[in-house]
Amino acid sequence: MASLALQLCAFAALTVLASAIPISKVPMNGTVMVTSLMMGGQKSPAPSPPCTAMDLGGGCPVLQAAEDSVSVSYSFPAAVVKPGSYVSLTACYSATSSYDRAWRKPNPNDFTKSKDCPYKFATKLPVPSGNATWHVPEKIPDSTIFIRAWLWNQQPDGTFKQANFGRTKTYLEIKKINDIPTSMKGAVIACCLFSPIMVAAIMCYEKYVKKNI
Ligand SMILES: *[C@@H]1O[C@H](CO)[C@@H](O)[C@H](O)[C@H]1NC(C)=O
Ligand SMILES: *[C@@H]1O[C@H](CO)[C@@H](O)[C@H](O)[C@H]1NC(C)=O
Repeated sequence: MASLALQLCAFAALTVLASAIPISKVPMNGTVMVTSLMMGGQKSPAPSPPCTAMDLGGGCPVLQAAEDSVSVSYSFPAAVVKPGSYVSLTACYSATSSYDRAWRKPNPNDFTKSKDCPYKFATKLPVPSGNATWHVPEKIPDSTIFIRAWLWNQQPDGTFKQANFGRTKTYLEIKKINDIPTSMKGAVIACCLFSPIMVAAIMCYEKYVKKNI
């Protein structure tokens, strides 16, 4: 009985270990390049040489959240592409921008649980190469980012697995949208104060007035 329990335990431990894939075990054969940037309505070329500054204010091109965009091209060597494969693209926080923030932490021991690439902006893209544009979303904090491409290969059981990747050498800086204007804050506070009264009024109306119409 005890040995059966032990065997089950070992089996469970092995399955957990087997399903966790460290990023160092995933080959990196992809190339991802910034082809152009749209900043303030103006098209700019990619930083050349690539900007390696991960700090805010480090001199990388600054993209305004909700306004600007970055276009990238990706490609994977034919040898790593399988029939039915596709590519997905994500924007990822730099090590500096994810440092000390559990909710953005990369997980080097199991990349499927990594939280450093929350901005998936394109998927089911063609192999082995293509282009896509990331419109910087509204809800993103001040940060430095890079773009990662994942190659998804179809498995014998029909599911897809991240089999290979590539990333931009360059970092880009993201400037979050301005804080809510003071007048808006006032409106929000007013709403919060008055909404219980509004709810009471609506309930009152529903209960007494509507009934008698
Ligand atoms: C892919 O990259 C790995 C290292 O990550 C290398 O060993 C391998 O030869 C590369 N394969 C191809 C097809 O380029
Ligand atoms: C991607 O864009 C580049 C430059 O903008 C272009 O030269 C290339 O042909 C495009 N590739 C694909 C697969 O569309």
